[in-house]
Amino acid sequence: MTTKPKSPPATSATPADGKIWSGRFSEPVSDLVKRYTASVTFDRRMAAQDIQGSLAHARMLARQGVIAAQDLADIERGMAQIRSEIERGEFDWNLDDEDVHLNIEKRLTALVGDAGKRLHTGRSRNDQVATDIRLWLVETIDEILALIAAFQRRLLDVAEEHAATPMPGFTHLQVAQPVTFGHHLLAYYEMTRRDADRFRDCRRRANRLPLGAAALAGTSYPIDREFVARELGFDEVCRNSLDAVSDRDFAIEFCAAAALLMTHLSRLSEELILWMSPRVGFIDLADRFCTGSSIMPQKKNPDVPELVRGKTGRVNGDLVALLTLMKGQPLAYNKDNQEDKEPLFDAADTVIDTLRIYADMIGGVRVKPAAMLAALAQGHATATDLADYLVKKGLPFRDAHEAVALAVRAAEERGVDLARLDLAQLRAAVAKVPGAAERLGDDARDALSIEGSLAARAHVGGAAPEAVRREIARARAELDAG
Ligand code: ARG
Repeated sequence: MTTKPKSPPATSATPADGKIWSGRFSEPVSDLVKRYTASVTFDRRMAAQDIQGSLAHARMLARQGVIAAQDLADIERGMAQIRSEIERGEFDWNLDDEDVHLNIEKRLTALVGDAGKRLHTGRSRNDQVATDIRLWLVETIDEILALIAAFQRRLLDVAEEHAATPMPGFTHLQVAQPVTFGHHLLAYYEMTRRDADRFRDCRRRANRLPLGAAALAGTSYPIDREFVARELGFDEVCRNSLDAVSDRDFAIEFCAAAALLMTHLSRLSEELILWMSPRVGFIDLADRFCTGSSIMPQKKNPDVPELVRGKTGRVNGDLVALLTLMKGQPLAYNKDNQEDKEPLFDAADTVIDTLRIYADMIGGVRVKPAAMLAALAQGHATATDLADYLVKKGLPFRDAHEAVALAVRAAEERGVDLARLDLAQLRAAVAKVPGAAERLGDDARDALSIEGSLAARAHVGGAAPEAVRREIARARAELDAG
């Protein structure tokens, strides 16, 4: 090397192009590289967390005697001003300063001088950024948990209103057995309950402090990590400096929980879309969630659920992006990690918007019980109940299944639902199965009624209105308990 190492003067270390690290470089980066490597356009949304983290760090440094009390006072004053500049939209974000951390540090130094330059003592952007994301994520998870609960409360209200509204339950999209609309909705309560659990679990592991790991090896200053953790509300400190700066598991776990939540809402969306199709007509969505067609005047399209279904794809993509981002990285920090934020933010934004819209949309579903009943009356939905009736009269289940299959065939031939056959017709239909006809009594047709079928399933998790109401009460108690 022919270039002489520059040795900038000790106090006014402002290198040629103003970059904090440019002392060892002999030329500035090109504009394209500047744009390519900068993250300030998207990481500035962590500004509040960055300031919070810096203040905790500065307080610790002052307590430990690493910086003077006056330095801390200057830093606090400068940060208060920066915070208000950001809040008022007056902060001058600059691509030249790469990211949120350097932008704020540079402004701090401009405002308070040397104290600003002392803030970064014993710290690296590597542990700083990891801290900021974790702080941001924990807050975001708390917001999501509140939104899931709000959605669940609306869902439970509708479920209660329709705890006894019969609808066909489907398997293979063929009418299977009667359930109630309330019971169907409670399936989504269970799904989102697991989702909330997953977010809480993710929060537990995210809520640990990386600060103190510095660049990767820790720091030689007499730091107090436990103090910083307490100041910032972290449950504990990360216990390995290399892991602390390179770990992004929490972001992956978050996106996995987000993708699964979206998958559940996508399934519900698919059902709303199907149910709203005029061919099915089980429900109608409030107009505010639908749009018309620019050419077909009659159309009312379920755009919102369709978009939820579509946006699930992008959240799945965010998860895959993060998994792929991490799979080839050696320890410890690599610049690749800067790519963690956009997928994470995108997944969070999508989930938050989707939950907000869904709470309102589900509350505004108009149920059409007559259409549900009509569909039930066409699908021989209580055939299993007739088989169970024969079993209770002593016929082996396989024989009962065969007998009822014959009865269904007879009903099909007449073009009616099984429940429409009278006793004589039922007996004639099952005659080929020994022991079946004589076991059919006057009460056989009760077994074929929808109300009877539902009421018979009053066990925990069953479709009986009574069981549905019990689960709703339980779910509400659970939500009230937080
Ligand atoms: N902007 C960076 C990120 O988002 C901050 C950490 C940069 N550290 C470094 N040594 N280049 O990850």
